[in-house]
Amino acid sequence: MTEKLWGGRFNAPTDAFVEAFTASVSFDQRLYEYDIMGSIAHARMLTHVGVLTETECTQIVDGLKEIQQEILQGEFNWEVALEDVHLNIESRLTQKIGTVGKKLHTGRSRNDQVATDIRLYLRDETDLINTELTRLITALIDVAEREASTLIPGFTHLQSAQPTTFGHHLLAWCEMLLRDKARLQDCRQRVNCMPLGAAALAGTSYPIDRYYTAKLLGFETIAENSLDAVSDRDFAIEFTAAAALLMMHLSRFSEELVLWSSAQFNFIELSDAFCTGSSIMPQKKNPDVPELVRGKTGRVYGHLTSLLTLMKSQPLAYNKDNQEDKEPLFDTVDTLKGCLRVYADMIPAIQVQREQMREAAQRGFTTATDLADYLVRKGVPFRDAHEIVGKAVRHCIEVGCDLDALSLAVFQGFSPLIDEDVYDILTLEGSIAARDHIGGTAPSQVHAAVQRLRTRL
Ligand code: ARG
Repeated sequence: MTEKLWGGRFNAPTDAFVEAFTASVSFDQRLYEYDIMGSIAHARMLTHVGVLTETECTQIVDGLKEIQQEILQGEFNWEVALEDVHLNIESRLTQKIGTVGKKLHTGRSRNDQVATDIRLYLRDETDLINTELTRLITALIDVAEREASTLIPGFTHLQSAQPTTFGHHLLAWCEMLLRDKARLQDCRQRVNCMPLGAAALAGTSYPIDRYYTAKLLGFETIAENSLDAVSDRDFAIEFTAAAALLMMHLSRFSEELVLWSSAQFNFIELSDAFCTGSSIMPQKKNPDVPELVRGKTGRVYGHLTSLLTLMKSQPLAYNKDNQEDKEPLFDTVDTLKGCLRVYADMIPAIQVQREQMREAAQRGFTTATDLADYLVRKGVPFRDAHEIVGKAVRHCIEVGCDLDALSLAVFQGFSPLIDEDVYDILTLEGSIAARDHIGGTAPSQVHAAVQRLRTRL
């Protein structure tokens, strides 16, 4: 039977089911790299302040490095009886180097140890996510630049509203994703704070040097209060909240990709590499990737709710409840990273059906606002201009034609101020070119926005 590292005060063995029920090693072993990193830094700090000798430190560090290799090579035997990643590694260390291994936990608790491990893990993962997110935004900017003049109908209420460009549309997604990037970077600052030294909850009686450990681990700051350091998981909640927002954006974007790739819209074609077929309908090419990303958004929302709920009723300081922080956090990281990666790969391969987009932009009287603006420039108050154009549109619907198909005589029946030059402003190109201000849809503005975005990345 495996001996418990905390067995001293117990008479009876742990119930077999309870042992499995309380163990976290099946999922927290994934933190091993950070656990070892934290332990090495802790041992070096203890040596620096004279609690461990140089020889002891070398034995511990070498032992931990060997354990790292054993784990990497799949030769490490994880034991449920040893509960979690921390006790598994510590136990193995003592097995390898003897009594010296038992000194590693001096001035430390699993409470500050686990909080440190998660922060180190999340700091790295945030950086990886940032890389994928940057790759996606860059891909969107590249397509937007290429499609800066590609006409597409802009929608409100999913009804054709005004012409815009595909480039301008994609840049809207870039703005949202850039805010997500900023949120993650902001969160990273608070993740990058070291709990180690808090020990179980109140600190430790050894002459520790927390700044020394923090420097070794690359932490920007150290937790100022030991109770806070071991109890709160707000950094994980904050990360998951930022992830939930990002997923919400990806989900909305997915919805558009699904619509656009339908036969009814036919605005884009996704590359075959990102779609699958149907086992019964031979004609089908399904946009699985956007659909799955849209679907996966739900689980990240769920994780956010889990973590908030996990935290809400815990008295200070550490409670075992916190062991439940890992799976939601890990799955949030995996889900987000996967979604970003597949999107960053898929976007450059999107085939844009420019003719279809242009044709759709032509439908639905999308230049009606331009006609109203034209009348305003001729001195008609906007509300009256709106009314006049509304009547002209109704006439077009009745006779079944577009605004630019009306003769000048018919136009003048609606307003004598309408002239031959009306036909220029009714063109799609005229409409987008007119919106020539910062944030507007004019191709020149889209190009300028692309330049600014590249420097903001
Ligand atoms: N496996 C635990 C967790 O994930 C480690 C900390 C346990 N601390 C304790 N005193 N039982 O939170």
